[in-house]
Amino acid sequence: MSTKLLEDLPGVGPATAEKLREAGFNSIEAIAVASPGELVAAAEVGEATAAKIIAGAREAADVGGFETGDRILERRKLVGKITTGSKGFNELLGGGMETQAIVELYGEFGSGKTQVAHQLAINVQLPLEMGGLNGSTIIIDTENTFRPERIAQMVRGLPPGPEGQTWEPEEFLKHISVARAFNSNHQILLAENAMDLAEKLKDSEKPVRLLIVDSVTAHFRAEYVGRGTLADRQQKLNKHLHDLMRFADLNNALILVTNQVMAKPDTFFGDPTKPVGGHVLGHTATFRLYLRKSKGEKRIARLVDSPNLPDGEAVFSVTMEGLKD
Ligand code: GTP
Ligand code: MG
Repeated sequence: MSTKLLEDLPGVGPATAEKLREAGFNSIEAIAVASPGELVAAAEVGEATAAKIIAGAREAADVGGFETGDRILERRKLVGKITTGSKGFNELLGGGMETQAIVELYGEFGSGKTQVAHQLAINVQLPLEMGGLNGSTIIIDTENTFRPERIAQMVRGLPPGPEGQTWEPEEFLKHISVARAFNSNHQILLAENAMDLAEKLKDSEKPVRLLIVDSVTAHFRAEYVGRGTLADRQQKLNKHLHDLMRFADLNNALILVTNQVMAKPDTFFGDPTKPVGGHVLGHTATFRLYLRKSKGEKRIARLVDSPNLPDGEAVFSVTMEGLKD
């Protein structure tokens, strides 16, 4: 996300900036992908000025740039995989949850989204030979469901280390930074702050390799109710997700987000199996996992629309010791 202000763009004074914001063009990125006609209408500027503003925004926002395939391949080589703790679940994901990606966990209440998030917050800290990345975790907790006690319980359920060592819950908790988000704006701000924290930890023994947003959609859903606000909500959620994707790229990190779907058909959001974020989240998330309850501790994960893996399902268990087969 560009840190520049609208006022920094050529042709944008305070009054124009205000009009643009009022019309929903809150960021340089939003302007970069707008058409001149839209800006003419929104800010009452001429065609030529609109074109100049957009050109400036495109430069500042770094959108639409090309990267050669070999550079992308070079970056892809650094992709790390984090074990889920369940062999079947890992196989569904081609070995584990990938960095440089957003994984969306969606499902009904109690389907295990938060449990999976807790487990990954631990597993990312494990050494490579155990399926971890020696990394630390940042959690943006919007529903106040982070439980250090549950982390401790799951750490005690880990298999012993490569040299037979046992694990200390305290050590794991030290490398999980949690912030409560009180509303959607706060959530967006915290995602921006996470970038600074990751920067600070970059050269530490445990750089940040996992950012969790649990739930990514709850505040947006609560605050933007009704048809009229749908476009606003999607635009904001879209910006947030792009911030998160940038975090994933810059830090070679996994972004794990949760998204509750209703069992009962919901008049506002249509199809109950369609997650709340709708298309925006659907196209931004690199891996989408639909979780549902089965018998007792069993849960079923279904991989939906992955770019390079076959769709499929895996069964795993949420036990007292954590995620297992
Ligand atoms: P929402 O956030 O409400 O949408 O649900 P969620 O998908 O995040 O569900 P969550 O991950 O909180 O799963 C709750 C379920 O996990 C419970 O119904 C239990 O089955 C299981 N669970 C939670 N805590 C424990 C625990 O300490 N031990 C065991 N064995 N299971 C647990
Ligand atoms: Mg939850």
